[in-house]
Amino acid sequence: MEKLTSKKLMNMWAEYWTQNGHQKIDGASLIPNDNSVLFTTAGMQPLIPYLMGEPHPKGKRVFSIQPCLRTNDIEDVGDNRHHTMFFMLGNWSIGDYFKDDAIKWSYNFLTNEKWLAIPKEKLAVTVFEGDERVPRDEKSANLWKECGIPENRIFYFPKKDNWWEIGGGVGPCGPDTEIFYDTGKPACGPNCDPSCDCGKWVEIWNNVFMEFVVEKAGDPLKKLPQQNVDTGMGMERVVSVLNGFKSTYQNDCFEDAISVLEELSGKKFDFEQQDGKPFAVICDHIRASVFLLGDQKPTVPSNVGQGYILRRLIRRAVNCTRRLGINAQDLTKVAECFIEFYKDEFPNFVTKRDFILSELEKEIEKFNKALDGGLKEFSHITKDMKEGDTIDGKTAFRLFDTFGFPKELTVELAGEKGLKVDICGFDAAFKEHQQKSRDNSGAMFKGGVGQTNSEEEQILVARLHSATHLLHAALRKVIGPTAEQRGSNITPERLRFDFVCDHKMTDEEIKKVEEIVNDSIKANVPITCEEMSVEEAKNSGAIGIFESKYGDKVKVYTMGQFSKEICGGPHANSTGELGTFKITKEESSSSGIRRIKAILVK
Ligand code: ALA
Repeated sequence: MEKLTSKKLMNMWAEYWTQNGHQKIDGASLIPNDNSVLFTTAGMQPLIPYLMGEPHPKGKRVFSIQPCLRTNDIEDVGDNRHHTMFFMLGNWSIGDYFKDDAIKWSYNFLTNEKWLAIPKEKLAVTVFEGDERVPRDEKSANLWKECGIPENRIFYFPKKDNWWEIGGGVGPCGPDTEIFYDTGKPACGPNCDPSCDCGKWVEIWNNVFMEFVVEKAGDPLKKLPQQNVDTGMGMERVVSVLNGFKSTYQNDCFEDAISVLEELSGKKFDFEQQDGKPFAVICDHIRASVFLLGDQKPTVPSNVGQGYILRRLIRRAVNCTRRLGINAQDLTKVAECFIEFYKDEFPNFVTKRDFILSELEKEIEKFNKALDGGLKEFSHITKDMKEGDTIDGKTAFRLFDTFGFPKELTVELAGEKGLKVDICGFDAAFKEHQQKSRDNSGAMFKGGVGQTNSEEEQILVARLHSATHLLHAALRKVIGPTAEQRGSNITPERLRFDFVCDHKMTDEEIKKVEEIVNDSIKANVPITCEEMSVEEAKNSGAIGIFESKYGDKVKVYTMGQFSKEICGGPHANSTGELGTFKITKEESSSSGIRRIKAILVK
């Protein structure tokens, strides 16, 4: 087959669903109307009222090509398959056809010579294995068999893999069947299947059978008045799969941007190598920035809400320009490639070209100024330091506070000189600073009103940090005391926690861990902090990383009888502030290390 381009795929999508009686709906803004989420994260989001029963003006069969933005995996962008912004190709039955047609049409689009012509041997599918609320989805499995998918390519998985609901779990939802492409990589072990994250299997399309709803948090599942189908195909993944999958950046939409970056840097973007990361991050983040700035509801960089995410995207891209050895202002040349590429489908990009480029330029300039000052200060601070020395937390915090120097950048630059950074000390200084500014303004934490969002973000981070301690303690109960921490990373949206564990966690284990954490939250115990020597901390039974020297004082955070851990903070004031804890992902991080991602829901 000739090379598949994103444009060609989108045209085929439109033709296929039109032939099957569907009407096109225009892609909605990246900024949703209802403000319960920051961004449009799935094609179904603008359709929620119709999936719940309202008649859609375009009828019962619709399709769309929807730009979506998800920030939960922002740190994974740079590998071969993660993006913040991506295109979701979706088709919907709004109370019309159900499993039979949905599955047959999906199979036909993927395998028929006239359409994508993917050999059926390259596909595997997953279906819902059932739980106490909803039975095993034999119907979908049988339909796949009728299509010609052999039994050993049909996998039954539990709720965490084959159930779809929006972020917090409130709204229309249901079991799904997911379609995977086998990249041909050797299996990572005897249990390697489509739920494995080793890279052998790439999910390309999801069909959700939405016949249920959760009306508000904590409510039981209810049947919707109608049976809906909600699907989502990842454009970037399908295009790369059909071009011999190496990376989702093998796509016509990134070609010009990559050429510009290669020319400026004199380096080649090798899709399969770790040093391809800065290329990938720049391509992803600058494309997302163009879409946010050029959206029908434009976002500009700021310290609040969507603007804060845009600022982070641009600043992360600027950091990558250093690694490619190119001038940060040249990111506007990359942005121009995307404006040009999407100008027909997004005419806004042309009319708002100057606005998009000048906002980008201003933000780069602002960040660069801060960085210049920070770089000078960094050289000054480190000029007399020797390899192996540590930059103390207060100093690292001053770089952040006074020069807007991101913590990661300090760590990266320190690493280049063989220096370390006291991260716990940084976090402690951060917390202290927060406390001071709150005391100064006389406004103690009240829960929202009158706060700037960046302060809100800090509170979210503190809560997720406390949740991390509870998770750590719960894992040690469920998996055993060997489940030691190996890494932790927190963004305002989610926590990520790596720990020692020799197996993929079972569903029961995940459920148990969630229960223990949520019980500790419900108990609403105060979170207290004491300073003591490392020896005292050890004797008190605190867990944590004992890397301080003998005689050093450390902080020990206690949450009732649930958790006692050495840490620099910051934390919430009591566990009751945390809301509801939910594990969103459990995957392999490296050999013998598992990784959990989790969120807190109000
Ligand atoms: N709403 C479904 C998803 O995002 C199709 O995967």
